[in-house]
Amino acid sequence: MSGRWLERRKRDYYYKRAKEENYRSRAAYKLKQAVEKYGFIKPGDVVIDLGAAPGGWLQVVREIVGDEGFVLGVDVREVEPLNYENVYIFVGDIMEPSTLERIKAVLPRPADVVLSDVSPSISGVWELDHIRQIELAERSLQIALFTLREGGNTFIKVFWGELFKQFLGKVKAHFNQTRIVKPEASRKESAEVYVLGLGFNKG
Ligand SMILES: C[S@@+](CC[C@H](N)C(=O)[O-])C[C@H]1O[C@@H](n2cnc3c(N)ncnc32)[C@H](O)[C@@H]1O
Repeated sequence: MSGRWLERRKRDYYYKRAKEENYRSRAAYKLKQAVEKYGFIKPGDVVIDLGAAPGGWLQVVREIVGDEGFVLGVDVREVEPLNYENVYIFVGDIMEPSTLERIKAVLPRPADVVLSDVSPSISGVWELDHIRQIELAERSLQIALFTLREGGNTFIKVFWGELFKQFLGKVKAHFNQTRIVKPEASRKESAEVYVLGLGFNKG
């Protein structure tokens, strides 16, 4: 059995499971697995989800935070509504300063958790995609620094590569603990990993 064959099987498995369990994306399982292991989202939390379309993570977060929490999703693409009063979604580009202002205006209080699964459209030129992705991850981190409460958490997608260490250093500078997370549902051959920052330190 080749590694590639196993990877394809895994991808198909999560695809089917997402269909059966009514999740909008396979990505839902990446977040589920990470939260099961590290417990960084809790019932009642206020959570921001950057790069939220089509909405798989929003579904998982809503399940965890329940009726008492609040979920805010942002994406450049339209996201089909979730039909919960405490899930708010708007179309916006995280690179635009006005998006941060809109996020702050909508939040009921400083956020407990900021998530980012933002990905650029892939050009196929690895260096370019890596740079673009790191820019998006850095902007996600900045948004986290402006919106999190003291002690809050962040979980940000990054492509592994030359600029990864520098990004990790920036997360370490603001959080009490950091973890590099590769959920089982994330394809092994994919360069994506997630950086988890626990315990925001406003300094
Ligand atoms: C991998 S998908 C997210 C999947 C999502 N976590 C889910 O479970 O359904 C990445 C998203 O990032 C969004 N994105 C890319 N650049 C963005 C930007 N500058 N601002 C906001 N969203 C962006 C894309 O439109 C895309 O929907």
